[in-house]
Amino acid sequence: MQSSVDGKMLQRLDFSNARVFVTGGTRGIGRAIAVEFAKSGARVAINYLRNKRSASEALSELEGFGEGHLLVKGNVADESKVEAMYEAIEEAWGGMDILISNAASGVLKPAMEMTMKHLHWTLDINAGALLPLAQGAVRLMNAGWGKIVAVSSLGATRALPNYFAVGASKGALESMIRHLMVELAPDGINVNAVSAGLVDTDALTHFPNREEMLGGAIERTPSGRLTTPLDVANAVMFLCSRYAAQIHGQTLIIDGGSSVLA
Ligand SMILES: NC(=O)c1ccc[n+]([C@@H]2O[C@H](COP(=O)([O-])OP(=O)(O)OC[C@H]3O[C@@H](n4cnc5c(N)ncnc54)[C@H](OP(=O)(O)O)[C@@H]3O)[C@@H](O)[C@H]2O)c1
Repeated sequence: MQSSVDGKMLQRLDFSNARVFVTGGTRGIGRAIAVEFAKSGARVAINYLRNKRSASEALSELEGFGEGHLLVKGNVADESKVEAMYEAIEEAWGGMDILISNAASGVLKPAMEMTMKHLHWTLDINAGALLPLAQGAVRLMNAGWGKIVAVSSLGATRALPNYFAVGASKGALESMIRHLMVELAPDGINVNAVSAGLVDTDALTHFPNREEMLGGAIERTPSGRLTTPLDVANAVMFLCSRYAAQIHGQTLIIDGGSSVLA
């Protein structure tokens, strides 16, 4: 399998026989990750929360690349729903190999206008969910080989307007990745994160200043363009490949270089 990038032929990574679970895999970045794995021969389970139409469109797209894909609905912050999703995966596939913890939500407000309910909601989905997701995934992985990649954002280490709760959740997520890694690397499981710059997905419709953010992001990006869902998906695939076998507990930033600028 080959694809052309800037006129050069690139070999596609081969994930035939891999069984991949992508949370929030029906829209945006998660969907791009799911599609790339499906194109590379994997069976993919995509999770969503509410939006049935995008869920069934995403499943149809995956089915264009092969069979055996699954659609699993449920809030990743609800342990009983996570358990039910893993039961469905085990019944269909008998196990799994790769977890991509991508689903996120959150309340975008200044801290002074935020309630504890807003904060807990955001932390539970964006950070806390990784606990039952990782526990369930490891239980279904074959001994000696597995991959966990979480999707984070630059708000984990930087301060952005209205990003109090989401930034804190992503900071916690990246810390969890390091701590999980220490426990799981001895079992042959790579645990890492990718952190994306601004990506134009539905998520940005919740920001009142979306257009301004997008324009500003291009100006401040040395590579001269916005990060795309495919850019993030490519980095996730790399971290799940044999080329990244010795990469453990890292957060790989995919932002065209913007976060390096002073
Ligand atoms: N967009 C950016 O600029 C950007 C930048 C850096 C990092 N990221 C990160 O990239 C990831 C994906 O973001 P995105 O922009 O692609 O988001 P998106 O377009 O809003 O898609 C979110 C996906 O997650 C699902 N989801 C949301 N809450 C869920 C929950 N509680 N349980 C299960 N599924 C849930 C949604 O399902 P429904 O369709 O049912 O709602 C949807 O499939 C997130 O971790 C985000 O923080 C995004």
